Amino acid sequence: MPDRYAVIGNPIAHSRSPEIHAAFARQASQDLEYTRILAPLDGFDAAVAAFRAAGGRGLNVTLPFKGAAFRLATATSGRAREAEAVNTLRFEGARVDGDNTDGVGLARDIVANLGIALEGRRLLIVGAGGAARGVIPSLLDARPAEVVVVNRTAERAADLARQFNGRVRAAGFATLPRQAFDIVVNATSAGLAGEAPPLPTTAFVDGALAYDMVYGKGETAFLALARASGAARFADGLGMLVEQAAESFYLWRGVRPDTAPVLAMLRAGT
Ligand code: ATR
Repeated sequence: MPDRYAVIGNPIAHSRSPEIHAAFARQASQDLEYTRILAPLDGFDAAVAAFRAAGGRGLNVTLPFKGAAFRLATATSGRAREAEAVNTLRFEGARVDGDNTDGVGLARDIVANLGIALEGRRLLIVGAGGAARGVIPSLLDARPAEVVVVNRTAERAADLARQFNGRVRAAGFATLPRQAFDIVVNATSAGLAGEAPPLPTTAFVDGALAYDMVYGKGETAFLALARASGAARFADGLGMLVEQAAESFYLWRGVRPDTAPVLAMLRAGT
């Protein structure tokens, strides 16, 4: 019997995690099965319990259950505690280990895949919801010169900054300092409605990296705004997706997959 893993969320039908983990498993000659689980919105804990009872070894957790996974874990990593969110569960007997690989996934995509240093750079994170909070710990670990979080609801950005003990600065779109950033990450859900966050053109240095955490949407409204504002490097979230998956695979299997061919395979298919 192959070891069983899955990604759990709602909705889940369009998750690309099964193809990514299948590719990693082939590459690393690991005998495992990786499926999708659609959990009812009020039935996350029960769905996890059923999966464990059936011998499941680990889960990736996606929207809207990352907070529920954090509460369900019996032990959590420092980065998961800072994010207050878990995207990777590992089951070991009675233990449920929770970790969060999203931030490392984003940082590795920027540094290793795009070849752009985070250290010493000025970073602007747009959005102050779960997506933003999940990646901030790993971005801070990369020692940027500064991290500013800007959000439509300024108070939410201020709450986030307090949580990170002043290691990030908060702003609303109206109070964003007139300052240009080397790397601007869109962690809002504005793109789902085809909208761009209202950033001034001055927010981007000439040649800035604009990173949209969503993937598969082509040039989003945010990326178009960035292009018109002087950004010269553009990325969607597909590289982050593959890198967070690789870190989860490593936590489960102790083997670090080579992500480049898997990312190339996904890009060829999109
Ligand atoms: P997630 O877990 O995906 O981050 P969330 O917690 O609902 O989801 O957060 C969504 C983020 O997108 C928030 O920062 C939200 O701003 P508010 O806190 O002001 O609601 C942001 N957002 C959504 N639509 C937006 C829009 N049209 N323009 C700017 N920001 C938007």
